[in-house]
Amino acid sequence: MPSAAVGMLDHPLLAEEVLKNGRADVVAVGRQFLRDPYYPLHAARVLGAEIAWPAPYEKARKDWKYLV
Ligand SMILES: Cc1cc2nc3c(=O)[nH]c(=O)nc-3n(C[C@H](O)[C@H](O)[C@H](O)COP(=O)(O)O)c2cc1C
Repeated sequence: MPSAAVGMLDHPLLAEEVLKNGRADVVAVGRQFLRDPYYPLHAARVLGAEIAWPAPYEKARKDWKYLV
């Protein structure tokens, strides 16, 4: 039966560890989205993953410097 992990899995590397080691099939993130509405973009950056940006944001994608 598929399982979800939830609760304080805020850091992308922590969430990735849960998935890579088969501790859960999906990681559910709650409050981090309140802290950082751009969390998917920031998490992808941390993980070195390529994800699609919303079309209106594309002009800002090039030369993005991660400030956090
Ligand atoms: C604004 C908000 C709304 C939530 N709504 C639900 C909900 O409708 N059903 C639910 O099972 N959990 C809900 N939760 C709990 C989250 O799914 C999660 O269990 C909790 O926030 C802990 O994970 P986190 O540390 O990633 O925030 C909500 C949490 C927040 C912050």
